[in-house]
Amino acid sequence: MSNKTLKDLLIHALRDIYFAESAIYKALPKIIDASKRPGLKDALTKHRHETEDHISRLEQAFGAVGMKPQSTPCEAIKGILKEGDEIIEAFGESEIGDAAIVFACQAVEHYEINRYGTMHAWAAQLGMDDVASLLADTLQQEHAANDALTSLAEEGINEAGGSHEADADAKNEGARGSDASAPS
Ligand SMILES: [Fe+2]
Ligand SMILES: [Fe+2]
Repeated sequence: MSNKTLKDLLIHALRDIYFAESAIYKALPKIIDASKRPGLKDALTKHRHETEDHISRLEQAFGAVGMKPQSTPCEAIKGILKEGDEIIEAFGESEIGDAAIVFACQAVEHYEINRYGTMHAWAAQLGMDDVASLLADTLQQEHAANDALTSLAEEGINEAGGSHEADADAKNEGARGSDASAPS
């Protein structure tokens, strides 16, 4: 049996998310470009700026554990971003382009919430309060970014497709659900 510790696992996770944040930062300009609604463009632009802070907080966390920042390729985020790229390629130009972008971006935010949530719990468990606090700050911003995307998607229910508006409103009367933004 190898003698790997929870701290080793946390360091592996830091390297993994360090790779992911940088991949997300590089992927966002194309997604922002493809966004149509100003509110969506603004939310994603704001989150790209926050992503710079996520990267620098991770660098501080590496410093706190006495290590140089180093990344390990994360297959999960590569897959999520590749799929997002394909979805935007297929639907980006259409009427429901923004819905496709929110769909793709929320997969990224959920991935980040999952990783930062677990890593924060590990850092707290290990008594690494400085690392835990850095991870908590980023986790809070990932939640806020995800919530902003949810609000935009819900606003989109009433804006969907102009001429379909009355139709969509009628349908939404009794069914305000996650699929309410689907075009008729
Ligand atoms: Fe992030
Ligand atoms: Fe994020």
